[in-house]
Amino acid sequence: MRKLVAGRAEGRSRVVAIASGKGGVGKTNIAVNLGLILARQGRRTLLFDADLGLANVDILMGLVPRYSLKEVAGGQCTIEEVVVHGPHDLLLVPGASGFQELAELAPGDRERLLQGLATLAGQVDIILVDSGAGISRAVFTFAAAAGEALVVATPEPTSITDAYGLIKGLQRLGVKMHLLINRAASNLEGQEAAGRLQGACRRFLHLELPLLGIIPEDPRVGQAVRRQQPFSELYPRCPATLALEEAAARFQGGELPAGRGQGFWQRLGRLLGR
Ligand SMILES: Nc1ncnc2c1ncn2[C@@H]1O[C@H](COP(=O)(O)OP(=O)(O)O)[C@@H](O)[C@H]1O
Ligand SMILES: [Mg+2]
Repeated sequence: MRKLVAGRAEGRSRVVAIASGKGGVGKTNIAVNLGLILARQGRRTLLFDADLGLANVDILMGLVPRYSLKEVAGGQCTIEEVVVHGPHDLLLVPGASGFQELAELAPGDRERLLQGLATLAGQVDIILVDSGAGISRAVFTFAAAAGEALVVATPEPTSITDAYGLIKGLQRLGVKMHLLINRAASNLEGQEAAGRLQGACRRFLHLELPLLGIIPEDPRVGQAVRRQQPFSELYPRCPATLALEEAAARFQGGELPAGRGQGFWQRLGRLLGR
């Protein structure tokens, strides 16, 4: 097994993996709506659905992709044909079912795929990767290739504990991290949960984990999911949207020095065992 090491600064687009220790904490909703908020502000944003088990960004956005990355690798279609255009010119690389087998692709096919993805990366400012839950190799691979991770957790003790395990693993790989607390019953509950996790990171990992924001529990989120529309589009003034907009501002403020990210796909290819 190859050693995973976070990507080095090069190129122009910023790549951020959205990850969590525990599943079902709201990663996909955060990825989609953060992507839309950034896109609405004029940032050229690409959303890459890399949750290998549960790829469903397209479902949340009510979009129907025609092709997958499998066809790009096989040469049956181009990367441009796989990309789905969402609102505000948000670009989506849908459910990466083909990507799971990247390590097993014939070298020529893999090269074609990574080349196609690299072309895309050159056209955007920010790439958000919905990278799944847990401390699986896939999650670590995507985060290490990105070099930066947004860790999503809810105030539940199990979510906080699992987030800590993920953070510990990501720190070893040199991944820069931010924290986002989702589904907080109150701001105080969110602050306390964040404080517990930040305290453990400081004490045991000597790590300062910046808090990007606290997203409240908001019934509008579930309503939007059921209508297969992003909550920030359907309910632009709901509490979850307003809180995520604030977090997005902090996210942009915490940007790494220019020059991170290009080569993400190449690193990913390497990490997947080339
Ligand atoms: N802030 C929130 N308020 C209320 N419900 C939420 C919130 N965030 C997420 N949810 C609910 O949690 C469910 C899981 O969210 P999802 O984004 O699919 O999580 P993950 O991608 O981490 O598995 C969604 O269907 C949604 O109904
Ligand atoms: Mg998900």
